Amino acid sequence: MPNPDSQTVIARCRELAAVSEMPHGTFRTFLSPAMKRCYEVVAEWMKNSGLAVRIDAAGNLRGVRAGIEPGKRTFVMGSHLDTVRDAGAFDGILGVVMAIALTGGFADSRLPFDIEVIGFSEEEGVRFGVPFIGSRALVGLLDEQTLQRSDSVGVTIAQAIRNFGLDPAHLSNAAVRNPLGFLEFHIEQGPVLEDAGEAVGIVESIAGQSHATVRFIGCANHAGTTPMRLRRDALTAAAEWMVAVERRAQSIPALVATTGKIDAQPGVSNVIAAEVTISLDIRHAADDVRAGAYHELRAAGAEIAEKRGLQLLWGDSLSLNTVRMDPLLTEALQAASPAGVRRMVSGAGHDAMILAPHIPSAMLFLRTPGGISHHPAENVGPEDVDLALQIGHRFIEDMSVRSPLS
Ligand code: HGY
Ligand code: MN
Ligand code: MN
Repeated sequence: MPNPDSQTVIARCRELAAVSEMPHGTFRTFLSPAMKRCYEVVAEWMKNSGLAVRIDAAGNLRGVRAGIEPGKRTFVMGSHLDTVRDAGAFDGILGVVMAIALTGGFADSRLPFDIEVIGFSEEEGVRFGVPFIGSRALVGLLDEQTLQRSDSVGVTIAQAIRNFGLDPAHLSNAAVRNPLGFLEFHIEQGPVLEDAGEAVGIVESIAGQSHATVRFIGCANHAGTTPMRLRRDALTAAAEWMVAVERRAQSIPALVATTGKIDAQPGVSNVIAAEVTISLDIRHAADDVRAGAYHELRAAGAEIAEKRGLQLLWGDSLSLNTVRMDPLLTEALQAASPAGVRRMVSGAGHDAMILAPHIPSAMLFLRTPGGISHHPAENVGPEDVDLALQIGHRFIEDMSVRSPLS
């Protein structure tokens, strides 16, 4: 019978999945009304676990259990509360709910450090096209230029913060007081652990990623009267490039490339598409391989545009190198785990990749049944949650005796 905590953890994740901007399906974005409702629910869970709760100026929801010397050292655990559109119930949320459950297990302990649980405000980047807003603020990387990025209706990140009743001038209050380290529990979101029949995995590094916004600009014309040889069709150019992206990614081992979002204008069936905007997301654990592929795909786009008499506008929107987790903290996580737990590279991005260069960070993956994520069928097993909670409890106990970072 799984530990009652794991049942509670899974039930809470499923409860939060219904807190959404969509009538059917899970969708929460930066400081939206649904996110506000999510904070009310999670803040209650934090308070019931004895945590002192606040929301920082970047909208991160935070709960602290003070140690014997409050503020002297802070160990952080958490993940993100926002989701992709029509998401599963566990991506991000699981890490926050597990962290709350773990702090509950130390209610009567006198730890030599504070524990801070953080629900990050925006990791996916759906609303503004900018991922990791909350975690960037923790390490002072939420700069003025980013704050001025606007959403589809022209609201900037700074304005969204003010609309929520927070003040972007106070972003320094997002810093962690004397950070000792960061631990993030997260579903693997892939097939590796399930294929191996293993419950958990220890993340060694998080693959780098490059994002671009790519625009093919042609010329609208009449679908019935324009001969094929006279067309400057932005949509067929985009389609040719998207197939070229897939072919290139298939030819480079372990490279993944995704053109997940497309917008065609004027978007009318009897008008040849004048302009098409596509998102590009490519990832690889080796930064040089990712960078090389990124430049090849840009050249391929330019070649297709020229051949078809179109213009190509290429917008770089993100470039994050592969990030290693802290070796000492990762070793401590290994020591707190059953023998033989594998080390893994994460293909998915996580808040830990923003924190790790500034705060020693470690991640524990939980098996993803069916290897499916960013999808309503996303799931996690109670026995795997139970094991991960035991590892987390042991990890904190070990750290309270001897910090792996000293
Ligand atoms: O895209 C990612 O890797 C993460 O889900 N934000
Ligand atoms: Mn995600
Ligand atoms: Mn995630």
